[in-house]
Amino acid sequence: MAKQPTPPPEAQHFDVVVIGSGAAGLTAALHLAEHGRVAVLAKGGLSDGSTAWAQGGIAAVLDAGDTVAAHVEDTMIAGAGLNHRATVERVAAGASAAIDRLAALGVPFNAGETVSERWHLTREGGHSHRRIVHVDDATGWAVSQALIRAAQAHPNITLVPDMAAVDLITHRHVVGARFPQRRCHGVYALDTKRRRVAAFIAPATVLATGGASRVYLYSTNPDGATGDGIAMAWRAGCRVSNMEFNQFHPTCLWHPKVRNFLITEAARGEGGHLKLPDGSRFMQRYDDRLELAPRDVVARAIDAEMKRLGLSHVLLDLTHLGADFVRAHFPTIHARLLELDIDCTVQPIPVVPAAHYSCGGVMVDLDGRTDLAGLWGAGEVTQSGLHGANRLASNSLLECLVFGQAVADDIAAAATPDTPSAIRPWDESRVTDSDEEVVIAHNWDELRRTMWDYVGIVRTDKRLERAAHRVKTLRKEVQDYYGNFRVTADLIELRNLVTVADLIVRSARARKESRGLHFSTDHPGMAATALDTVLDPAQGRGDAV
Ligand code: FAD
Ligand code: SIN
Repeated sequence: MAKQPTPPPEAQHFDVVVIGSGAAGLTAALHLAEHGRVAVLAKGGLSDGSTAWAQGGIAAVLDAGDTVAAHVEDTMIAGAGLNHRATVERVAAGASAAIDRLAALGVPFNAGETVSERWHLTREGGHSHRRIVHVDDATGWAVSQALIRAAQAHPNITLVPDMAAVDLITHRHVVGARFPQRRCHGVYALDTKRRRVAAFIAPATVLATGGASRVYLYSTNPDGATGDGIAMAWRAGCRVSNMEFNQFHPTCLWHPKVRNFLITEAARGEGGHLKLPDGSRFMQRYDDRLELAPRDVVARAIDAEMKRLGLSHVLLDLTHLGADFVRAHFPTIHARLLELDIDCTVQPIPVVPAAHYSCGGVMVDLDGRTDLAGLWGAGEVTQSGLHGANRLASNSLLECLVFGQAVADDIAAAATPDTPSAIRPWDESRVTDSDEEVVIAHNWDELRRTMWDYVGIVRTDKRLERAAHRVKTLRKEVQDYYGNFRVTADLIELRNLVTVADLIVRSARARKESRGLHFSTDHPGMAATALDTVLDPAQGRGDAV
């Protein structure tokens, strides 16, 4: 029988605390649980992260005609040369074993259509081969459920949902002089049901909190994608990099009531066409690879057509593929659209680009180590060097699986230092309950709209300057608010979002070229040398709200 999640007392000690129950966090936890006691925190339900929403699948070289070298090259081309080759090679080479492990956990990948093909492989933009293993068009749900089931069954894993990490516990929070070195000792987290802050103390902490695409008004991501891990690591003194590279997925459903439903790239991979309202295709005017050009190219093309013709959306047409084919390959999308009175077997789907993935994040090395001893990172929260200036489709779940394991291996091999027995309790003596919750809702809306309008698919120096002014004012207001009122789940997210927005705008202003997902009409050329944008809290404003 599955274990029930455990409610926490004020302070708990573990061998490892993992923050996040998506593909990255649970992969790390399952490996680490072979060596010690692991707590896995999730700020809402266990399957509330992006992992469960993933549709297309996982990129892996599983076909005899394909090669790891080709996967590496496709990833580097999509990433516009900014990728770190060693990371790309490590991740691409680790794919096949990662898929085997998921299959062993019970993920029911679609079977191949011939005896020599174990799994069915679909195609997505930027891939030179069919390379995407999937579970219909709802791969993430199947992966998430299999990982959660395995974690629930493991005696060494304690799952703690509804526990929102607020800040990392570092040497600065330790009582006494025994632990002077810069180090992470765990995390303070808000029990969102009981509304009190608890401490999770461990010699090793893993950040696996996902991305920050909810910093934009329109996004394919679940509500919780607010960049909490990036902001917490920044406050604790870790460098972040490449924050300007926000991936906009070309085909999010355009619908007045449903604003974050993705139409998988596999729909174009299997032959779907992008069209204007008059029924004409337009990708031939932008790229020889047509609908299967990398995402940055397709999203910019749609954006340009929408601006040129004053459109609210374009169309994704699957009707020529045949009703049986569409229903068989995209059952989840077909059913969801029918609920909205759109039958995609006979009518085109209205689509717009929306914020989808954070390529930048907390800097980690090949073992997932951050700048802070005792703190590791895996998955979308990190900048590992895999994605460069633009992520290749379906490389993200793969990164979670490969880095989740790498982090676990490194922690298991590391010496285990002592943990402090006394840390400072969470101090709420100088704050009160807010009597002005409207400030949070207002600033939240204003921040997301600012980012959408001024830091979107196409950027200019002037717009970025405007964004910088607005974000600065919002940061100040949120900082004051945070200092005066008791912490709540919404306030935690807003505080982190405003920090992440500041990091994105600063990074975008620092990049004086156009590369991958960062396109500026003031700097349209690409520099000869590809350089990461690295922000270091030690060089100013490390304590950003
Ligand atoms: P997530 O799965 O997002 O999990 C984050 C976890 O951290 C959650 O458990 C959350 O509760 C927790 N958390 C966050 N903040 C806190 C906090 N303060 N305290 C405690 N816990 C916290 N990628 C692919 O490779 N293939 C695909 O087909 C694909 N399709 C996608 C479709 C959609 C609609 C979306 C949104 C993304 C898709 N992606 C896809 C991207 C991919 O799903 C994500 O990048 C990946 O799942 C991220 O996994 P993760 O483990 O890093 O984070
Ligand atoms: C999709 O199915 O289009 C999403 C794939 C991804 O984001 O990698």
